[in-house]
Amino acid sequence: MSGIATFSRRTAALYCCACTAVLILSPPATAQFPFDVPYVPTPQVVVDEMLRVANVGPRDFVIDLGSGDGRIPITAAKKFGARALGVELDEHLIFQSEESARQAAVEDRVTFLHQDLFKTDISRATVITMYLLPAVNRRLRPRLLDLKPGTRIVAHDFDLEDWKPDRKVTIRKNVFLWIVPAKVAGRWRMRVMLPGGERDFEFELRQRFQEIDGLARVEGRIAAPLWEPKLDGERISFIMVDTADADNEASLYFLGRVGGNAMEGEARRGVGKAQTTVKWRAVRVGS
Ligand SMILES: C[S@@+](CC[C@H](N)C(=O)[O-])C[C@H]1O[C@@H](n2cnc3c(N)ncnc32)[C@H](O)[C@@H]1O
Repeated sequence: MSGIATFSRRTAALYCCACTAVLILSPPATAQFPFDVPYVPTPQVVVDEMLRVANVGPRDFVIDLGSGDGRIPITAAKKFGARALGVELDEHLIFQSEESARQAAVEDRVTFLHQDLFKTDISRATVITMYLLPAVNRRLRPRLLDLKPGTRIVAHDFDLEDWKPDRKVTIRKNVFLWIVPAKVAGRWRMRVMLPGGERDFEFELRQRFQEIDGLARVEGRIAAPLWEPKLDGERISFIMVDTADADNEASLYFLGRVGGNAMEGEARRGVGKAQTTVKWRAVRVGS
């Protein structure tokens, strides 16, 4: 490793440790009583990176939990065209945020609420941003997992423990992105019209956050794994090997969307010129 690389990695590591120590040890800058997390602003370049990684755009509604001086909601509106809400317990920071929103000419797209993030309705968010402490993240996690599938959550420095991020980018800080996964665990029954006739499948999915695996039964007879299972918000994909006709085995590539107790989409049988595409739909028949 070159000297420069060693130096810059060490510098970055020290910088990150210093910020973490400030966040953990310093008292709130303006608060009269201890809040769940002290006020430490996110560096602007990291704010930009959080919103870029979350792919924020004009159709998004961003909620920053513990919004400090309002820089994340204001940036979401000013640079990415989103609507945004900041929730903050420190009244002085709310005044400062509202003034900054006026100066940035985004006051029609950004709102600040002086209230506890734990008492805030976050169900309208398409993107949640947060720079909070591990214990606060832990308390928030069940509510984050209950958000609409596909909602993006972006944080830096502190992660969500064993809910692994879907993406991690390191630019000055570790920026983590999670996509809220649909709840797919259970037994599912599916009927697919294939060229050789109608086929019934039953499959069972196990789930841990966005990680899934499963087992399929074709016509109640054969148990086979679901290969390459992937869950990305409400989008699901997996591959089954169709063994019903021993002389004409082929992979079935399923791609679909989950909505509550149903999922549907298209399945492709075979590859290249030999492929056919059919519609499929599955319903949950057991937990
Ligand atoms: C580390 S700062 C982050 C500020 C801003 N999000 C940023 O990244 O620049 C955390 C903020 O959360 C606020 N806070 C702490 N506990 C809170 C709670 N229960 N409800 C709302 N805000 C809270 C603090 O006052 C502080 O401004």
